[in-house]
Amino acid sequence: MTSIRQRHGLDVAAARDHFPALARTLNGVPIACLDGPGGTQVPRECIAGIRNYLEQSNANHGGAFTASVETDEMLHQAHAAGADFLGAHEPDEIAFGPNMTTITFAISRALGRDVRAGDEVVVTRLDHDANVAPWLAMAEDRGAVVRWLELAEDGASLDLDALEGLVGPRTRIVAVGLASNALGTLTDVGRVVEVAHAAGALVYVDAVHAAPHVPIDVSTLRADLLVTSPYKFFAPHLGMLYGRRELLERLQAYRVRPAGSALPGKLEVGTQNHEALAGLVGTFDYLEGLGSAYGDVADRSDRRSRLRAAMSAIHEHEREMSRAALERLASVPGLRLHGIADPSRIDERVPTFSFTLDGHDPRAVAEHLATRAISTWDGDFYAWELVRALGLADAGGLLRIGLVHYNTIEEVDRLHEALVELAG
Ligand SMILES: Cc1ncc(COP(=O)(O)O)c(C=O)c1O
Repeated sequence: MTSIRQRHGLDVAAARDHFPALARTLNGVPIACLDGPGGTQVPRECIAGIRNYLEQSNANHGGAFTASVETDEMLHQAHAAGADFLGAHEPDEIAFGPNMTTITFAISRALGRDVRAGDEVVVTRLDHDANVAPWLAMAEDRGAVVRWLELAEDGASLDLDALEGLVGPRTRIVAVGLASNALGTLTDVGRVVEVAHAAGALVYVDAVHAAPHVPIDVSTLRADLLVTSPYKFFAPHLGMLYGRRELLERLQAYRVRPAGSALPGKLEVGTQNHEALAGLVGTFDYLEGLGSAYGDVADRSDRRSRLRAAMSAIHEHEREMSRAALERLASVPGLRLHGIADPSRIDERVPTFSFTLDGHDPRAVAEHLATRAISTWDGDFYAWELVRALGLADAGGLLRIGLVHYNTIEEVDRLHEALVELAG
């Protein structure tokens, strides 16, 4: 593949060349895809993976014939690369599903079988509703008590100091996000795990928004269960779960009897989206290629190291973009950023920026930007509790800018120009 390293960091132009969708224009202007948090674009390797699979190996798994054997091998690769991406010990600790929400409803229901009336679950005011509603439903079904981890005074992060008071001997599960899909705030999940484990509770981590931005290592985090959505990190529409092996083995998953109790089949109910998984394998190839240009040679000896090197390079590039974006947004008249704005706290966030603009509802801002060939999202992004806590639910929510590694400072400049134009 094309070399993606420049002397001074990620070679964004070379990376962009891998993403055909980024060449799209509107009235001759290249479309700036600042809509990543709703789903990113995919590299050629992903598209080729889907295409090759459908052209050559399209079959169900477990058969004796060539295409089925190839399908089994592709499925193994998807699990093995997923394990490397998340730092899991083995491929069987990874299970796929249609999306994060479906997986979380299934896991919460299965874990709920062991929850007794009066047990407790902890959810947060910052999370996407897909890491809240399933736990609320499970708690209701089982007569469990819900405890809320509230926002800190900055209105942008969680009040982790309150955690010890919330978690106790009856706490069974703490559901927390690694990064906020609305504000970009990173949460110190290691600290959450420490408190939860000391009380004997499990931690379910929503890493959907973190996955395209930072290296994730479940062993370091000591997460019990962690879930991502590959379509947010340059792959097709899928959900991907990590679970500690011993925990997954114990889990009383709802399944069909022929699936047996072996991993990962026990958790992957029904036939999976094979072509999407083949695309995911292609995306991991892309990321590996990107990572092989970074770090020292020892760091590139295996897929896990290469994937980690890729995510570290991405993270580094995004810190620069975060600084630039914060600076540009601060100079737009009437713009109020919700989230960490202090550049000295850049390590506490990913480059996702949500704001309101005086006199313009978020949908009108998104429409204006769309006419300038800039794609963004407006609304609550299912960060349902947060947008209510901010008092913005009846005002159209927020306008969200989501930068990922294929975005550029030039795009941020175009955004700034278009916002200043609207703000007058
Ligand atoms: C942080 C976060 N969690 C969960 C979800 C839900 O993911 P999915 O669409 O895969 O169900 C999203 C999607 O926007 C998200 O951003």
